[in-house]
Amino acid sequence: MMLEIHLKDQEDTRMLGYTLASLLQPGDIVILTGELGAGKTTLVQGLARGLGIGDKVSSPTFVLIREYQGRYPLFHVDLYRLEGEQALEELGLEEYWERGGITVIEWGERLPLLPSEYLRIRLEYAGAGRRATLEARGERYQELLEELRNIVSFGDR
Ligand SMILES: Nc1ncnc2c1ncn2[C@@H]1O[C@H](COP(=O)(O)OP(=O)(O)OP(=O)(O)O)[C@@H](O)[C@H]1O
Ligand SMILES: [Mg+2]
Repeated sequence: MMLEIHLKDQEDTRMLGYTLASLLQPGDIVILTGELGAGKTTLVQGLARGLGIGDKVSSPTFVLIREYQGRYPLFHVDLYRLEGEQALEELGLEEYWERGGITVIEWGERLPLLPSEYLRIRLEYAGAGRRATLEARGERYQELLEELRNIVSFGDR
């Protein structure tokens, strides 16, 4: 299943993250793709707010991963500066998503090996706004996407 949402401004992008946060469970993985400035971090900020983390989330520029404590832990990963597979191994991502937090990965397309199930959100420029295309891999995320479709009250589809 796929869900497309037009996000007319950054508030829509935040709302998508915020709404998503109400459906996410510990252990969930969200992979964000999209070119520079597509709105990935903006979406994570909304998601963080939805988890009760507040406004402190920014792009993890020199560290690849940042951890926040909210309703659940949030592991915010940005692979833009990832250099080679060894660096990825050292990150030990699996250990994070086994710790019962929510893992969100910017530039997730750089992962050489994807987890078996995940939610992927592709963000693209669309006029002055963005288009989000959400795709579920695995049953759990199919259900999540169904629920999201029913409660999305912003953007145009
Ligand atoms: N739906 C939208 N419409 C218009 N502008 C948006 C939208 N969503 C986010 N933006 C704006 O796009 C800019 C870049 O956003 P953001 O930093 O989240 O992108 P990013 O994908 O994380 O970039 P990077 O690849 O550098 O990490 C910000 O100024 C943000 O406010
Ligand atoms: Mg970013």
